[in-house]
Amino acid sequence: MSEFITVATTDELKPGERMIVEVNDHYIALFNVDNRYYAIEDRCTHDDGPLAEGELTGTVIECPRHGAQFDITTGRVLRFPAITPVPRYDVRVENGEIQIKI
Ligand code: FES
Repeated sequence: MSEFITVATTDELKPGERMIVEVNDHYIALFNVDNRYYAIEDRCTHDDGPLAEGELTGTVIECPRHGAQFDITTGRVLRFPAITPVPRYDVRVENGEIQIKI
């Protein structure tokens, strides 16, 4: 059963910032893009690269290892060498708390 879990507060994640949170043994990259929040697995589906360390352009993250690109709003692959989408998580804000649906 999935549920929303608080992982941070909005004070801790300003626009343009990102952070990694650990939930149930998953490392999740959490982004604030213009006060919209997105969460994806912090692991590239090509070869486990650390996605949260990659360059973010708009809502496109580039894996620092071999350059695959993903849309952080959907998890969709935008560029090889990855071919499998990265897991994404629903995010909501409740009373200043950022919550991820796990
Ligand atoms: S591990 Fe991300 S592109 Fe290879």
